[in-house]
Amino acid sequence: MSTAKLILDGKEHEFPVIVGTEQETAIDITTLRQRTGAITLDPGYANTGSCVSSITFIDGETGILRYRGIPIEDLCASAKFPEVCYLLIYGHLPNSEEGAEWRRQLTLNSFLHQSMINFFDHFPVTAHPMAILSAMVATLSAFYPDVMDDKKIDLSIVRLLAKAKTFAAYSFKKSIGEPAVYPRTDHSYAANFLRMMFATPAEFYEVSPVLENALNMLLIVHADHEQNCSTSTVRMVGSSLSNLYSSISAAISALWGPLHGGANEAVINMLQAIHRDGGNYRKYVDMAKKKDSGFRLMGFGHRVYKNYDPRATILKREVDLVLGALGVTDPLVDIAKNLEDIALKDDFFVERKLYPNVDFYSGILYRAMGIPMEMFTAMFALGRLPGWIAHWKEMREDPATRIHRPRQVYVGPNKTAFTPLEKRERSAYQPKFTKE
Ligand code: CMC
Repeated sequence: MSTAKLILDGKEHEFPVIVGTEQETAIDITTLRQRTGAITLDPGYANTGSCVSSITFIDGETGILRYRGIPIEDLCASAKFPEVCYLLIYGHLPNSEEGAEWRRQLTLNSFLHQSMINFFDHFPVTAHPMAILSAMVATLSAFYPDVMDDKKIDLSIVRLLAKAKTFAAYSFKKSIGEPAVYPRTDHSYAANFLRMMFATPAEFYEVSPVLENALNMLLIVHADHEQNCSTSTVRMVGSSLSNLYSSISAAISALWGPLHGGANEAVINMLQAIHRDGGNYRKYVDMAKKKDSGFRLMGFGHRVYKNYDPRATILKREVDLVLGALGVTDPLVDIAKNLEDIALKDDFFVERKLYPNVDFYSGILYRAMGIPMEMFTAMFALGRLPGWIAHWKEMREDPATRIHRPRQVYVGPNKTAFTPLEKRERSAYQPKFTKE
């Protein structure tokens, strides 16, 4: 086994080096503070491995993504989303018997308790689907306290996967004032979701195979992405032995931000702004290069990928396929492709290795499928659920897991005396509480 040496204040310390199955190297500093009194400082954790994991492998330099060793391209070409969920959570693809039972459980558990449906009537119309989804997933532990029972973990898992789809579809129906549509046992996961979103009591609704395939693929490309912000949130919250539903509710909140899953909505906002501005995409590329503009090209760049995100390659191809099959034209597609062309040739983006990420084309695809923009991040969450669950389960089963509790380097005031009220001066910053 190789080792790494650290010299601190002239004293040498040796640490073990561990190597993963894909030859990724890590210096194991578990005993660093105990032996040296020092800690490491790594804002944003860009150099920190928080765990060992056998779920997903990413090589960001060459653009590789594999779930349990299987390339994302092969899964998108041949698998169905429920079997990918099973693969991520249980570590292997289900055989035909296991798959049939898994699909049956996913449908049986997708119905909601009537009092849970009442919740939907009490959210205001302004409620974002991510706020509803996060709240409803947290609420599951109120309806199913047996989530605390480790012996029932498989039931808790399938319940969450099945009901989250219903929550997402119901939140949409609520927002447009239509009655909820119940799931059907003879439909696939993707077809059921589309039906629950778009069927109305007035008309016969037949699920388009083009849309069903596209949704299946979208869910698969989002299914896991190792230790990203929301997945690390699941592990962080779950490390305190918080239950599955509370941990995943926290992850949904983490995903919502525009630097993470919220980027798919932000991309469409950006493309629409460019469209309204006469399609002047060069102006926006120039603006993204100016640090003081506060503007970034949404859907571009990634902490791990320093090459084309393989998920963006798959989705870009699917955009052409779906739009062609549906006979839809979308001016935002041309803007997106032009933006990509010019950014990929621009020194600023080339030097920083900024490529389109998964969110660059997913929004265009959702739009073509008739999914409203406010639902985009909730769609990402539905796809990411099996990944979050797999990581929560792996962490809980790993004997090396400890409560997540990073340290800090304190740079605040040294010991300071308390100032009595009458001697305090007005401070430079005044909080603003006005509503404008
Ligand atoms: N547009 C313009 N400049 C950018 C962009 C961008 N989209 N992304 C990064 N940069 C620049 C950044 O200004 C910095 O420049 P410099 O080195 O001169 O200071 C350099 O590239 C490195 O950026 P960073 O912010 O240090 O990189 P990070 O790893 O901390 O952030 C990111 C990664 C994804 C948050 C960032 O690239 C970003 O804000 N992208 C836009 C939002 C987005 O598309 N998010 C979805 C991510 S993929 C889906 C998911 O996993 O959720």
